[in-house]
Amino acid sequence: MHVAQSLGSGLMTKLAEVLSRVRPEVRKQRPYKVGVPTGDILVKLNQNESPFDLPEALKEAVFAGWKEIAFNRYPSEQPNDLAELIGSSIGWDSEGIIIGNGSNELTYALGLTFIETGSSVVLPRPMFSFYERVVHIYGGKVISVAPLETLGFDTEGILTAIQRTGPSMVVITSPNNPTGLVLPLAELRTIAEATAGLVLIDEAYIEFSDEPSMLTLLSRYPNVILLRTFSKAFGLAGSRLGYLVGHPALMGEIMKIRPPFMIDRFTVCVTKLLLEHSQLIQDRVRLIRSGTKGLIEELQEMEGVRVLAGQANFVTFRPPCDGQKLFAALAERGVLVRNMSGYPELNGFLRVSAGAPAENRRFLKALTQAML
Ligand SMILES: Cc1ncc(COP(=O)(O)O)c(C=O)c1O
Repeated sequence: MHVAQSLGSGLMTKLAEVLSRVRPEVRKQRPYKVGVPTGDILVKLNQNESPFDLPEALKEAVFAGWKEIAFNRYPSEQPNDLAELIGSSIGWDSEGIIIGNGSNELTYALGLTFIETGSSVVLPRPMFSFYERVVHIYGGKVISVAPLETLGFDTEGILTAIQRTGPSMVVITSPNNPTGLVLPLAELRTIAEATAGLVLIDEAYIEFSDEPSMLTLLSRYPNVILLRTFSKAFGLAGSRLGYLVGHPALMGEIMKIRPPFMIDRFTVCVTKLLLEHSQLIQDRVRLIRSGTKGLIEELQEMEGVRVLAGQANFVTFRPPCDGQKLFAALAERGVLVRNMSGYPELNGFLRVSAGAPAENRRFLKALTQAML
């Protein structure tokens, strides 16, 4: 029997009562949903995933590793051995690294650490929608900064917002999702110098960018935390692993509120194995980068298409026709991209992730046909 049908009127009142106790910040939210059309999807280019699964031989090695795992034992509170491996691969002390069950989970941890009711959080627009959601859930105040006409970051506007509101947190995603555009290192430094609060730099797509990471300068900016993920360049979106990099004193505070045992032994095993295959990752990143470049060039050739020439593993573009209809026409041809019209600045835009070469060709063919 359906649960809702089984409640009599007395119990419905009880349910309404308990629902009224849910924090208003939560009740106002809608669940995060990617939104996938029905029908056969042959080419999936809607979530900025890596098009490359683990090679078969590595999967075999993962399964062999899993066999050694004690399923009945908790993992450690933090996988310190993995933090050390990540630390030595990026050149940062493992005490300044926190590993999370995907980077989104770490964003919640940062919100809990830094945002209280009424705290200002500066978010340049358009911004990965998850951040706005987290600020609202913790009762913070979103201080939006409009982009330049190019849809790039307005650094002056960000600095003015910082001066005006003294934010607890400034979030910069570079390369930015949803535009792919980057903020040069020099401007990131100016922002970090201008704020007394936390500057979170989301580097989910940094491996695809020509612009260097803030990592090289991090030791001079104790108020900066970098957020990274294994979901994109490393192709582990299905396994869930992200991490924060920053000053150990800040990490110590965040660790106080994080639930322990968040990273299961299975994910640790896969990630360690992948870190031993850095050449594979580099080769794949090179291929994805050239895929993005190729998509940008092809789209720029199409009449009336506005293309954001970003540096991530996706391309955001506005077709000369109705974006929503084009999205549906592509889906009918088995090609799934992302409709970006939910972002006011990106009304009519679509976003396509760089796929494997054959997938990119298929997307371009479907696009040409659908735009005829
Ligand atoms: C800018 C940005 N940050 C973080 C994430 C989430 O990464 P994860 O899979 O590690 O939660 C995404 C995912 O699309 C993203 O675009």
